[in-house]
Amino acid sequence: MNTSKTTVAVIGLGNIGKAIATNLVKGNHSVILASRDNEKTEALAGQLGNLAITKNIADAIRDADVIIPAIYFNALKDFFKTFSKELDGKVIVDVSNPIAPDGNGGFKKIIGESESAGKILSDLIPKNAKLIKAFGTLGVGSLLNSAFNEPDKKVLFYASDSTNSNSQIEELITSSGFAPFNVGGIDQSIKIEVFGDLHEFGALGKTVTLSEAKSKVSHS
Ligand SMILES: NC(=O)c1ccc[n+]([C@@H]2O[C@H](COP(=O)([O-])OP(=O)(O)OC[C@H]3O[C@@H](n4cnc5c(N)ncnc54)[C@H](OP(=O)(O)O)[C@@H]3O)[C@@H](O)[C@H]2O)c1
Repeated sequence: MNTSKTTVAVIGLGNIGKAIATNLVKGNHSVILASRDNEKTEALAGQLGNLAITKNIADAIRDADVIIPAIYFNALKDFFKTFSKELDGKVIVDVSNPIAPDGNGGFKKIIGESESAGKILSDLIPKNAKLIKAFGTLGVGSLLNSAFNEPDKKVLFYASDSTNSNSQIEELITSSGFAPFNVGGIDQSIKIEVFGDLHEFGALGKTVTLSEAKSKVSHS
């Protein structure tokens, strides 16, 4: 039985949205699924079972405490505008990495070197909403394969200005089979976005346990 108080909606069911929803259900946490494609949404819910509930995007946002739009950085600004009424007062989790193909088989940042998606988006969210940066520090492979690691859980880092909401994001990260690690305020997002000091595809270069993360952070 799911005894959690935090209701969560995953919006956008591509690679990362699917992985987040899958891990939450594996951790016995119910999840509201929504996307622009009802067929895809229903199909995923069918795979995940009774803990996955489907709704349209507006209702999913209305009915959840925490919203995880698993969509691209560039699409998030419009998403915030389109659903500004529904998002008012909600906790929004930003998973985005502000990158695009560089034309040479790699990726390049699409914002300034010293900028972060988290900080930029935190200024664009609807009034009274709160933005937390989380669930984007690992590639989708590691997010699925490193969840529920034993004996020591792997870490998912998060950045947040909203100490009131930290227990909710920590609950969701824990339900997903990871250990939560707060790197500080949203101005620290750059560390946990791709190419950052604490990203799998940055200086960190791998998944880490809590003790490895603590030693990494104390030496940085
Ligand atoms: N893939 C990774 O390893 C990884 C790791 C960490 C973070 N991320 C971040 O996660 C985000 C999603 O990446 P992804 O790899 O999951 O991409 P993806 O597989 O292409 O999925 C993106 C999803 O976003 C949906 N979408 C786009 N615009 C939307 C809108 N305006 N409203 C609702 N849904 C919308 C698309 O839905 P439709 O099917 O309706 O088009 C699609 O299902 C990106 O910001 C990425 O940087 C990805």
